[in-house]
Amino acid sequence: MQLVTFCGSAGERSANQALLDVIDRVAVDRGWTVVAAGDLDGIPMFDPAVGEDAAPRAVTMLRNSFETADAVVFAIPEYGGGAAGWAKNALDWMVGSGSLHDRIAAVVCAGTTGGPNAVGQIARTLAWQGAHVVAALGVAAPVTKRDDRGRIIDESTLGSLTEIVGFLSEASEDEVRRRELTTETLGRLGIPLSDRTRA
Ligand SMILES: Cc1cc2nc3c(=O)[nH]c(=O)nc-3n(C[C@H](O)[C@H](O)[C@H](O)COP(=O)(O)O)c2cc1C
Repeated sequence: MQLVTFCGSAGERSANQALLDVIDRVAVDRGWTVVAAGDLDGIPMFDPAVGEDAAPRAVTMLRNSFETADAVVFAIPEYGGGAAGWAKNALDWMVGSGSLHDRIAAVVCAGTTGGPNAVGQIARTLAWQGAHVVAALGVAAPVTKRDDRGRIIDESTLGSLTEIVGFLSEASEDEVRRRELTTETLGRLGIPLSDRTRA
């Protein structure tokens, strides 16, 4: 199983990357291959006039990352009450190519409040693009849940992140379970199922 991780933070000691590090470790222990999504720094502002064939290289790399993944985990910071704009911009490039369609996805956010707005916004755009959002997690006050090297040490958070890997695995193996997890996750986030697969 190939898991792609997408970190929406440029921070050197990113709490969101710390969440992904746990997911990475748990997934590798299960024998999965884990790959960080392409050259994210190189993604320019979305321009709908750019044709699929003329897409910048970094965009093509990100599309390829998603298209070859069995599952994708997005860790997105919340800034000013919304998802990091840079991350949403990167995902806007995926609408036309359909690169997220039918992908199994999870959304996590580490931030002061737990980032419910970031989680909701990213889950919604993923759902609109036809992804199956099977898990979502907000981690509040991450500074209290890390050791002095920045690693997540809070037992409850470690348990929730481990559970997410389990959900991704179940969803990839069983379509009924995938639907169940998607319905539960989107329902909890207040995203109508009818918002799925508009792209
Ligand atoms: C400009 C700015 C705005 C922020 N706005 C929010 C916010 O709206 N909600 C929230 O939970 N945290 C907010 N935070 C706190 C960040 O979520 C927190 O710093 C988080 O650790 C950033 O993610 P990172 O460590 O992965 O870079 C904000 C931080 C900054 C610098």
